[in-house]
Amino acid sequence: MNILVVGGGGREHAIVMKLAESPKVDKLYCTPGNGGIAKYAECFDVKATDIDGVVALAKEVSADMVVVAPDDPLVLGMVDALNENGFRAFGPDKAAAIIEGSKVFSKNLMKQYNIPTAKYEVFSDAQKAIDYIKAENTYPTVVKADGLALGKGVIIAQNFEEAKDAVTSIMEDKIFGQSGSNIVIEEFLTGPEVSVLCFTDGKTVSPMVSSMDHKRALDNDEGLNTGGMGTVAPNPYYTEAVAKECMDTIFIPTIEAMVKENRKFKGCLYFGLMLTPNGPKVIEYNCRFGDPETQVVLPLLKTDLVDIFDAVIDEKLDSLNIEWEKGAAACIILASGGYPKKYETGKEISGLDTKGQAENVLVYHAGTKLDGEKFLTSGGRVLGVTATSDNLKSALDNAYKSVEAIGFDKMHFRKDIGQKALAVK
Ligand code: AMP
Ligand code: GLY
Repeated sequence: MNILVVGGGGREHAIVMKLAESPKVDKLYCTPGNGGIAKYAECFDVKATDIDGVVALAKEVSADMVVVAPDDPLVLGMVDALNENGFRAFGPDKAAAIIEGSKVFSKNLMKQYNIPTAKYEVFSDAQKAIDYIKAENTYPTVVKADGLALGKGVIIAQNFEEAKDAVTSIMEDKIFGQSGSNIVIEEFLTGPEVSVLCFTDGKTVSPMVSSMDHKRALDNDEGLNTGGMGTVAPNPYYTEAVAKECMDTIFIPTIEAMVKENRKFKGCLYFGLMLTPNGPKVIEYNCRFGDPETQVVLPLLKTDLVDIFDAVIDEKLDSLNIEWEKGAAACIILASGGYPKKYETGKEISGLDTKGQAENVLVYHAGTKLDGEKFLTSGGRVLGVTATSDNLKSALDNAYKSVEAIGFDKMHFRKDIGQKALAVK
């Protein structure tokens, strides 16, 4: 098979490297890819959001399957366009991707189908939102832009002034563009967070190994929110009992609700959960693999990923037994100094072999480019270094040991990835 993967970050590198293990794969293509992905797949310069460009590329490379990984092309309807042109594509169509594309949609869906989530109200008028916040008078309160906002559309306001500023900047100053025409104001929840990625064909839902993200830039969960500074899997808070409750009260009801709404979801559905004192609740849905969750989840997958993608596309997931390694995985993100604010790029990366890899670990490139034989930094998050082992402690030790051998000017990474998970008894 010839498989084309759309996207160009660490998540896509993890998908490409997993697909490369399959005996069914002849040739891998990726667009736009990056320096590390280029060692495993032929890369092109078609943008991930260029629907016509990707359809044309799929024709050019005679793709037997196209995997659309990032949120924006999914929400724009890339899978629909690929299907209309006769291509098999992994990922939800536009109608289903709205589960991530619109928070107003997903919140209303959860309310209508009794899926546990934070209490909320939707506003299209800034003054009404501000009046509501004043009347509620409970802080922290959470202000969310309706649409995609590069993972930055959530503001936790500690007092009235912050909440008012959040509403004004989203709805009037339009800091997230049209994504902020509507907003959701919701109750602040507390408890451990768990990411659960699920394969689903719209009928069967098959959860992957659970994981834990570390969103803040600095140790001890300080500093700004980022796309994710590291992950571990499995997440120790996600016990068998919690998993069963999530399956019964969240996963199956969500899949069934989407079918009832004529929005059958096929692909990877990501449940961002909070284990509150009142039970597990949905913080957010994503219509795709998480980044950097994928970088700890896929290394633990034993089943051929091509078989899983085929089963999802053909709606035969019920006939596939998906197997996982018993052990654990840890991923440390190496970022450019200054990220998630301003940072420099074009720095030479040392400590990688000719394939962009390092000993005993998987090195997933997020923001790199090739300059002849050299790898240069080209983004905020540069590399994700993943180690697997039979237990989390040694996976973390191995990942951090390998990180020591890798470097670039102003490299920054968190030293405490996995510490919270290790402390759970
Ligand atoms: P998101 O950008 O949607 O991934 O949200 C970013 C983070 O904001 C989440 O991972 C949570 O830590 C936090 N968050 C979102 N909604 C709530 C909520 N209702 N209560 C508490 N924290 C929240
Ligand atoms: N790691 C969070 C996300 O992929 O949205």
